[in-house]
Amino acid sequence: MKIQPHTTGRKVFAHYCDEAEAVVFPGGCLDLLRQIPDKSAQLVVTSPPYNIGKAYERKLDMGTYIRQQAEVITECVRTLTNSGSICWQVGNYVNNGAIIPLDTLLYPIFHNLGLVMRNRIIWHFEHGLHCSRRYSGRYETIMWFTRDTKDFVFNLDPVRVPQKYPGKKHFKGPKAGQYSCNPLGKNPGDVWDIPNVKSNHVEKTEHPCQFPVELVERLVLSMTHEKDLVVDPFLGVGSSIAAAVRHGRRGAGAEIVSSYAGIARKRIEAAMSDSLPVRPMGKPKYDPLIAGNKLTVAPWIIAPQNDAQLKLLQKMADYKA
Ligand SMILES: C[S@@+](CC[C@H](N)C(=O)[O-])C[C@H]1O[C@@H](n2cnc3c(N)ncnc32)[C@H](O)[C@@H]1O
Repeated sequence: MKIQPHTTGRKVFAHYCDEAEAVVFPGGCLDLLRQIPDKSAQLVVTSPPYNIGKAYERKLDMGTYIRQQAEVITECVRTLTNSGSICWQVGNYVNNGAIIPLDTLLYPIFHNLGLVMRNRIIWHFEHGLHCSRRYSGRYETIMWFTRDTKDFVFNLDPVRVPQKYPGKKHFKGPKAGQYSCNPLGKNPGDVWDIPNVKSNHVEKTEHPCQFPVELVERLVLSMTHEKDLVVDPFLGVGSSIAAAVRHGRRGAGAEIVSSYAGIARKRIEAAMSDSLPVRPMGKPKYDPLIAGNKLTVAPWIIAPQNDAQLKLLQKMADYKA
């Protein structure tokens, strides 16, 4: 990841203040959240530790983990504006091969605080561990909650995606002959296919589980307006605030590991000067076949030593025919 030096003169603060465009608090999230006034965050977006023993976390018994999450979520709800949103992105807790989807355990916390779920977004990606005793995990979820109000912010136009059949027309009725789809594009739906940040992703840092910036950009653009405050209690290397400042929003986040907080500050500064390397929103996924990648040609087609793979490929060829 190459980051150009910060040139804009815009500053990343280490403590919350209303004037700050960006805050990276190097410490525990509760200490940052307590600095943020009631009803001031338009969007809280985060990916908390999953309690699976990553380098940055201590594995806790499940009851303690849920209690700690409840404490942070309660503080986040206090900071939320009346029209604001909370997006909590989680995967599975895995113990001795048994998986527990964390959203099922965390949902009651939000519900008991009076919040309403608006979407449970499936984030699908293609790279990760290859499992041998279950299907490999290739999705995580984003739980989107708002207060129990009709007035929550949701702007669809900035996040519309291309229609599948843009040339389709009404074939009968008063609109016959007119184009039937919205020319601005369609609703992206609640299954998002966005590459995760693995080794050759342009945004990769030393953090083991970064948000792709484009994932947060979609949330920021649809759930906030310019100058609104975006809060991330578990900031990691700052992807959420980088996404916020790229679109003229303000951001504040906490990160307990000082090296990650340092990277977050640098990435946010780079985002402020528009020099942060990011995968652009809407860029089509890399398709090795279309790209003509030589590795897509299986060597056993030329020298068929692996009969099982050959049969699979023949089956695929039959479908294509
Ligand atoms: C899943 S990662 C988030 C990664 C982030 N979405 C990004 O794009 O870089 C969770 C982060 O929370 C941090 N963390 C854990 N407990 C924390 C706490 N109490 N306060 C603040 N940060 C914490 C961890 O060090 C880790 O970097």
